[in-house]
Amino acid sequence: MPLWTGRFKKQLDKKTNDFNSSISFDSRMARQDITGSVAHATMLGKQGIIEKSESEKIVATLKDIAADLESGKLEIDMTAEDIHTFVEGELTKRIGDSGKRLHTARSRNDQVALDLRLYLLEETDKIDAALKDFIDVILKKAEENHDAVMPGYTHLQRAQPVTFGHHLMAYASMLLRDRDRLSDCKKRMAVSPLGSGALAGTTYPLDREYSAKLLGLSGVCSNSLDGVSDRDYVVELLSCLSLVMVHLSRFAEEMVMWCSWEFKFIELDDAFSTGSSIMPQKKNPDIAELVRGKSGRVFGSLMTLLTVMKGLPLAYNKDMQEDKEVTFDAVDTVLICVDTFSAMLETAKVLRNNMRSAAAKGFINATDCADYLVKKGLPFRDAYKAVGQLVAFCIENGYTLETLPQEEYKKVCELFDEGVFEAIDLDNCVKGRAVKGGPAPQCVLEEIENAKKLNV
Ligand code: ARG
Repeated sequence: MPLWTGRFKKQLDKKTNDFNSSISFDSRMARQDITGSVAHATMLGKQGIIEKSESEKIVATLKDIAADLESGKLEIDMTAEDIHTFVEGELTKRIGDSGKRLHTARSRNDQVALDLRLYLLEETDKIDAALKDFIDVILKKAEENHDAVMPGYTHLQRAQPVTFGHHLMAYASMLLRDRDRLSDCKKRMAVSPLGSGALAGTTYPLDREYSAKLLGLSGVCSNSLDGVSDRDYVVELLSCLSLVMVHLSRFAEEMVMWCSWEFKFIELDDAFSTGSSIMPQKKNPDIAELVRGKSGRVFGSLMTLLTVMKGLPLAYNKDMQEDKEVTFDAVDTVLICVDTFSAMLETAKVLRNNMRSAAAKGFINATDCADYLVKKGLPFRDAYKAVGQLVAFCIENGYTLETLPQEEYKKVCELFDEGVFEAIDLDNCVKGRAVKGGPAPQCVLEEIENAKKLNV
């Protein structure tokens, strides 16, 4: 039975009922719905809006219902209109008229707004914990590879030498910001809409702060119309999650490249790669590709909710029921992506020698070679040109800067002497980049130490 009988002479058309119902997806908020009701009923009792004894009976029975759902003794009736209807119906089934008093001074509009806040606060914590673990894996790998020289790229062209540890730490920085954003987002999420009623508050003497406090929330929504209409906190969360997926997706793209034969910088563990049904030699990075692909779902969720909300008049409109499926999907997707990616990275083998030989081939020490001339007094622009000529000569004649004979250096610029080979040595090039945040192994270790302090 729906909650809104009385005015109606007919039951809702069967197909329309299915169309209208949200229980198939909002049943996952059962626990939060009960928690919210417990706080509401406790507050009603304290304020004398319902008898204390009735409040206690409601609270005890709600707790029984939660326990029975948890143990599997009670199953959710999937024909109910939504989870709120089901819980209230079950309560009334168990304690009769007392159950019918629970909804005093409350509407499903403030109830659902509360449930979603409570649910998403928990999910945000889960995602945050997963990100923390993921960052720990990155930090460990970065520490192991803080001195593994690899080419750094711009335009996907070998540019200047970095270390694998340094490269990984770029992702640690992004993910630490993601954690920071999530915690900021929680501040606006942890606010209670209870007491907003359907839209216009209530005539009962509620203690809104009290029920908020019982729920561990930091305050109450300051306007009842906004309290039931606001889904900003969901949009914010989906924006944060979209950025998490942007970061994962870029990382995934690099993993895919790095395990190609063209790069061979890493080798994925067999447990995190797949084969081909026809090509026996294949070992595919499907997991990384799926993470990259699933970013689309999360961005889609954000776009869906923005579009649902953008033209809605105040206050509650049923359109807003569309907030849940996409948000739940986004939350689930991010959680599984972070966990799987983390395990994939942890078990991946880093092929340091291949990274190093790639770094040795692409003239990535050309800037250091020019800097060497600058230190000898040549203006940078002239030094740049001289090294450009050397690189062209090397390419035509099959040399690298390391293998080019010294006399060839001299022909281009008199200032070159045997010291150039030390200046362009890859380890020295990396060590020299010792600016804060730079790739020098020492700097990477410092960066890791700082990140460890932040990743708590
Ligand atoms: N299932 C609804 C939702 O998710 C609950 C609120 C129903 N309120 C109403 N006025 N019909 O939004």
